[in-house]
Parts: sequence; structure tokens; C-alpha cells
Amino acid sequence: MSLLILGIESSCDETGVALVRLPEGGAVPQLLSHALHSQIEMHQAYGGVVPELASRDHIRRVLPLTEAVLAESGKQLADIDVVAFTRGPGLAGALLVGAGVACALGAALDKPVLGIHHLEGHLLSPFLSADPPEFPFVALLVSGGHTQLMRVDGVGAYEILGETIDDAAGEAFDKSAKLMGLGYPGGPALSRRAQDGDPKAFKLPRPLLHSGDLDFSFAGLKTAVLTQAKKLGDELPARTADLAASTEAAIVDVLVRKTMTALKQTGMKRVVVAGGVGANRLLREQLNQACAQMKVRVHYPELHLCTDNGAMIAMAAAMRIQSGREQPARHYAFDVKPR
Ligand code: KG4
Ligand code: ZN
Repeated sequence: MSLLILGIESSCDETGVALVRLPEGGAVPQLLSHALHSQIEMHQAYGGVVPELASRDHIRRVLPLTEAVLAESGKQLADIDVVAFTRGPGLAGALLVGAGVACALGAALDKPVLGIHHLEGHLLSPFLSADPPEFPFVALLVSGGHTQLMRVDGVGAYEILGETIDDAAGEAFDKSAKLMGLGYPGGPALSRRAQDGDPKAFKLPRPLLHSGDLDFSFAGLKTAVLTQAKKLGDELPARTADLAASTEAAIVDVLVRKTMTALKQTGMKRVVVAGGVGANRLLREQLNQACAQMKVRVHYPELHLCTDNGAMIAMAAAMRIQSGREQPARHYAFDVKPR
């Protein structure tokens, strides 16, 4: 019997809901429908996510989005077999909305629920694409809160090869963008502005590039950007594109070179990129180039599934159930794990 899985994501500033069908046997789970509401506009006025506003907006959106995905796939509440939600990491209040709704639906429908690790959602999101990867692979997980290189041998078989010792790559984008007055979220804004700039205009550090291990550090880069911005003073507006391009080049350079080192060290011939920064155009270009040279296949989530969404949560739930690692339970204590 196939299973219909509802996935709810509410860890930060996007409310995402999706329906995935887990077929019987070993076939790849299928995305039936997904819906997303981004709070970006609401938080923009504050230059960043305001947790309390995020929670309240998740409350407003989550049920209408659930109704939308059910209508789109011609399903009813009663057809749902499992309700999956993001257990963490994320903003506590925001997570509680998704967990609360998931548990309430589960209890009302007498169906099991399943809490999913947000990063596992990102990690498995490339399986939602038309050309899904095969295990094993190296994963580069680059989001607003995390930067990790992982060895992935199967669902739940993850080994961290290296990670950031301070800021995440997305954070480096966001903080640098803020210093340049480019607004929130900084990654896409900085990347857009960088298109008109010269990536060699400013010499910025590539921290830990030659450390010999697979760890990252981006705090120093942010400080260097701040120093440059201060030095430019009134000239900053005229040079923002150059500074943005130089910052993007520095971040991408480190990400690509460390990923290539991870591939060499593990001998793997496949890499998966996931998380919001995976949407970055320059990262994709340079990684594609480097991987082509090394005859390594590279997989990305579809562009619109790089940032937070419900589809990746439903997919991760489906794959965990399919792998036998998880037995969803009628246990409605919503124990979120913000950190
Ligand atoms: O995965 P995600 O949606 O949320 C977290 O789990 O953190 O990632 C959000 C991060 C933000 O830091 C955002 O600035 C960054 O991903 N991001 C980008 C791009 N799109 C999103 N960074 C660089 N270039 C982009 N095109
Ligand atoms: Zn995320």
C-alpha cells in the first residue's frame, strides 16, 4: 500500500506545505503538490527575521496552505497517512507552529506523525528533481545557519567531514549584504548586485583555504568586508557592485575548493549541493566547471526547492520510512529542537 505524507516546514521565514506519495516497494517517492508562503516582505522592513512575527504568520498561513495542496492533488484530509514536520533546528516559536499543527492533525485523524531534521530535508531535496542522485555522495550543505561537507552513504548514514567554525556561508552573504546596505535576505541581493561588479576589485581573505582540513571560517571575511566598506566611506555606493562581486567570489572560491578536496579525499564521484546558498549562480557555475574537470557528477535541488520548503520535509520523511529507519508513531508530544 502506498502512503500519502503531508510535510510541514515552519523553522524560519517560509511556511511550506507539501504532499508526497511513497509508493510501495523501492521506487522514488513522488511530489504531488507543494505550496509556499514566504515572509520575506514582512521582515524586510526590519532588516532580518523577527521571530515573533514569523510565528504569528506561520499560524495564519499553515492551514490555508494545507488546504491548497490537498485541493491541488485532489486529496482530502482523511487520505493523509503520515504527518511530517520540521522538528529543528530553527526558531523555537516558529517550529512550535508546525509541530503543533502536525500533532493536532495527527491526533484528529488518528494518524502517526514524524519530526524531521531540517538539514536532512535540505540534504535529501535533490531527490525531488527529475534526475535524482544515487548514494553514496559528498554533500555540500550551505544554508543560512549551516555550512557542512558530509559523506552520505544512504538515508540516515551521514558523516560530517568538515563544517564552519564560526559563521555559515549564508550568514556571510547576509551580513556582508547588510554592511553594503543591500537589505534582506542578503544572499540573492548581493549576488544580483555582484553581476555588475569586478570580482577582482578587492582582495578579500579566503579563510582556512589551506588549512588542510575540510572546515570553514567566514567571520574574518565579514570583518574584511566591513573594513573595506569603512575605508570606502562616501565612495561605497559607487563601488558596491565591485565589493559585492569580490565578496561573492571569496565565499564561492572557498566552498568550491573545499568541496573538491572532499571529493579527492573520499574518492567519491558524485556531489550534492543543498541549502539556500545552493541557489547561487556563481557557485553553480564554478562547481560545474571544477566537477567537469574531475569527471564528477554534481546534483542540485531544483532552484525553487533550494531554500526552505515543505516538499523537502515530506520527501525526507518518505525516504526515512522507506529506508526502514523510521516508524512514525501516534505520539503527539511535539518536542521541537531549536538548536
Ligand atoms: O536554506 P535556507 O533557505 O534557510 C536556512 O535553513 O538557513 O537558506 C537561506 C540562506 C540565506 O542566508 C540566503 O541569503 C541564502 O541562503 N541564499 C543565497 C541565495 N539564495 C539564498 N545566497 C547566495 N546566493 C543566492 N542566490
Ligand atoms: Zn533551511
